[in-house]
Parts: sequence; structure tokens; C-alpha cells
Amino acid sequence: MSAQLQPVKTNYRDLRDFLTAVEERGELKQVKGASWDVEMSSIVELIYREGKGHRPAVMFDEVPGYPKGFRALFGTIGSTWRIAKTLGLDESQVQPMQLHENWYKKSKDIRGIPPKFVKTGPIMENVLTGDQIDLLKFPIPRYHELDGARFFGTQHGVIQRDPDTGWVNVGTYRSMVVNKNTLALHAVPGKHGNILMYSKYFPRKQPMPVAIAVGMDPALWFLSCQTDVPWGTSEMDAAGFIKGEPLEVIKGEFTGLPLPARAEIVVEGEVVPGEWVDEGPFGEWHGYYANRGLLTVPEPVIHVKAIYHRDNPIFTGSMPAVPQHTFTLFLGVADSVAIRRRLENFGVPGIKGVWSHYTGSGGLFNVISIEQMYSGHATKVGMIASQYPAEMGAYTVVVEDDIDPSNLEQVIWAMVTRCRIERQIQIITGCHTNNVNTAIPLKEKRSSDKAVPLTQGRIVIDACRDVAWKDDWYPIARVSPELRTKLMDKWHQVLTETGVE
Ligand SMILES: Cc1cc2nc3c(=O)[nH]c(=O)nc-3n(C[C@H](O)[C@H](O)[C@H](O)COP(=O)(O)O)c2cc1C
Repeated sequence: MSAQLQPVKTNYRDLRDFLTAVEERGELKQVKGASWDVEMSSIVELIYREGKGHRPAVMFDEVPGYPKGFRALFGTIGSTWRIAKTLGLDESQVQPMQLHENWYKKSKDIRGIPPKFVKTGPIMENVLTGDQIDLLKFPIPRYHELDGARFFGTQHGVIQRDPDTGWVNVGTYRSMVVNKNTLALHAVPGKHGNILMYSKYFPRKQPMPVAIAVGMDPALWFLSCQTDVPWGTSEMDAAGFIKGEPLEVIKGEFTGLPLPARAEIVVEGEVVPGEWVDEGPFGEWHGYYANRGLLTVPEPVIHVKAIYHRDNPIFTGSMPAVPQHTFTLFLGVADSVAIRRRLENFGVPGIKGVWSHYTGSGGLFNVISIEQMYSGHATKVGMIASQYPAEMGAYTVVVEDDIDPSNLEQVIWAMVTRCRIERQIQIITGCHTNNVNTAIPLKEKRSSDKAVPLTQGRIVIDACRDVAWKDDWYPIARVSPELRTKLMDKWHQVLTETGVE
């Protein structure tokens, strides 16, 4: 690893420490008295969708029916500055492409710093076992009006161990409250947590130890819900790299799993092969009830053996709905860097920038800008990028490097002016998808606990000027950089008064 890529320590120790800085910066909104039943989550959705660019972390307290101090937090990493802070990046560079570039550089030589086992930590302030176990002790939200239950895990990490290698995976797979000591686990095909369950524990009829952490270190949350941490690498080790120091963990009494010592709430439990419970319905990240519409689906059951929590715990939640910024923005940073890395690993030159448009598309509209170097370059880029593990019929658009991939207005201009449609659009059939897909009718999806292998096409749009006659292309009618500099000099007041910078 080169000297400049040495990990820089993040300057927060855990979620509470992070929130102190968020509050000092004026990015924490406190709300008292909202109900767990649809109100908290819907207030957050309205703030993020209609709130004129305000993207605070929203902390709810004095939730009716709950003691003061039992709080619920949404939008933890929902602003560009909070993303930079979470990842230990330059906090003054918070434009989407700056975040992309800085995370790209920092994560380039990512290596693990394994967690440090400690005897105890704040998570042990309250230990509930046996009859004391009651998940509904926390103000767990019911998120949307048509949801069938309350969901404990939406901003959390599900911790599982590979029974063969000991590798510990942390993934965000939603976890529904069934009753005070039972959860349902929804990890879809292709996710590491699903593979561990269905390919390792279930065929061997072996109970699977599991832990779920809520209110985790923001760096671990960032990693647990993005796809770029490969099979066999632990998100805990990668979080150690982001933080520049190991995470503190405690060996779980019931599972032996590493439990984040400074999280807010952790449960330990067990999934017994062959036990199912009806899960859902739940409004999802792309804005639909997609799994089986408003029907429930059988999912594995988690029997909770212990709950640990800090005093005055902070429950953390994400509000999935028609995509807005609560958690989509940081996934845009994560996925765009992951796609760029895959292209480079494939040996494709000339990649100038990538942006994954989570806000609006939930990560299903990805744009790559390139410096065109040879015929077919754009198609190659688009074909490879299109296979980034999106779960649905994703759109991949390749543009030239005069287009900012994060700027949809520019991207659409390139699509409608530079793409010769009959030659420059490819539809690839037979790609991976699953039950989350809203373009597949309900009757084709699973109706039992056995998942049907589903596929869907993806589309690649080459919105670059044809390299064969690019040099003779029609001139662009726009103020040139040289004229701009002159005008900014001469007409400084007029232009700056009207917001031109
Ligand atoms: C808020 C949020 C909720 C998510 N819920 C689920 C879910 O319920 N099931 C699932 O399989 N993936 C879900 N995901 C996506 C996974 O967390 C993500 O793909 C992650 O990479 C999975 O980790 P893995 O690569 O270790 O399997 C969710 C992501 C986010 C951001």
C-alpha cells in the first residue's frame, strides 16, 4: 500500500460520538411525540422528499407508549457531509463526484483490520434473557401504511458465520417482528446471508447462530448494505480499515459470534432449519410492495436468545419508499466506486467517472463516463458494468468525459443526441433478478418457501459520439471555457448576483 493510502482514523468512536458531531454541525433534527405506527417513518419520508434539500438525521424521542430516552433515529448517513464523515473522507469535498473520487482513492487498497475482542462494552449495560426478552421494548416502527408488521431490522447488520471457514458476514437483510422473542429473516437469493443459510446450514439441518446489531458504527452500516465486500471478506475487518482502528467486539454467549461492543442494541439467536413464518408485506427500496405484492411469503424464523442494549438506546431505521435520499445517496457513492473498480479489474482503460443514480432509480440507472479510445470501447464498458449485481432490469448508460455522470440533465442530453438507437442500444437477456422485480407478474414468482430462479433483461445505452467520425461531429453550441472565464471576469457582479459561480 502506498503511503498516501494509509488509513486515516475516522474521528468518531461509535454512533453516539458521530451524532455529537452531526448535532454540532446542525444536521440533527429532534422530534418528540411521534408514534411508531407509520408516523415516524412517514415524517422522515416527507422531510427527505419534500424538504427543499434539508437532509437532517432525524431523532425521535418520547414515542407514545415508550419511556423518554428510548429513541429512534433515521437518515444517519443521509447527507453528503455525513457520508464523508462516516468514511473518514475530506469533509469539505461533498459534491457527488468528489465523494466518489475520494472514496475510490481511499478504498483502492482496502485491507482488513480485524476486530478486537474485548471483555465488555456499553452494549452490556442491559442484558435480557429468558422471560425478560421483549423486542417490543424498543420503539420499532411500522413503516408504511400497507405494511403487515413492525420491522426490527432496516438499518442494522445481520451477523452470520460460515460454518466451514469461520468467516463472519455482516449484511442488511430486513428482519420482521413476529412476536416478542421471534423475528423473520428476509435475505434474498444471491446475498451472502441467503447463501450461508440455504447452501450451508439448511442442507446439513444445522441450526444457524445469528446476531443482529442495530445502531452500529456508521462505517459498519455503510459496508453491511453494499455489495462490494466479497464473499469470504468480513465487513467487520473492512470497517476497521475505514476507521483506521479495529472495531471492538464481544464474543456472544449464545452464538460465539462477534457482537459490536459499542452498538445500541444487539440480539443473539438461532435459525432452525425447516421452521418458517409468514413475512411481510413490506414497502421496498424501489417504492413498491414487490415480493408477493400484499401477500406474505414464508421466511426463516430467528428465535431470540438474548437482547443486549445500552442505556437510553437509539433504535436505527431506514425508510425505504419511492427512492429519496435517506439511504440512497451513500449507496450511490458505494456502488459507483464498486462498478468503476470492476471495470478496472477487467482491464478496461479510459474510465473517467461513474455515478449510480440511487435517488430516483434505487441504483438501477448507472452512468459511466469514458475517454473513448477504440471502436466498441463504450459497448464493452456498458456490458461489463451492466452485470454489477443489481437485482432488476438495470439501465447502464455510457457517456463521454465531457458529461458529468451524476448530472441527469447532461446524461439525457447525451442519450438523445449522440446515440444512434438501432446500433447503440443493446438488450441483454437472461440476467439475474429475484422476487423484488416489479416487472415480473406475481404468478411467475414463488408461492412457497422454494425460490423460483427468475431472470430479466438489462439494457446498455452507448450515448457516445460514434468513434468512427467523432472528429467530424457537429459543433456544440455552448459557452466555451475560455469565453466563460472572460465573462466571469468582466461581468462578475451580474453573474454572481444571479447565482453563477
Ligand atoms: C436499507 C436497506 C435494506 C435492505 N434490505 C434487504 C433485505 O431485506 N434483504 C436483502 O437480501 N437485501 C437487503 N438489502 C441489500 C443488502 O443489504 C445488500 O445487497 C448487501 O450487499 C448484502 O450484503 P452481502 O453482499 O454480504 O450479502 C438492503 C439494503 C439496504 C440499504
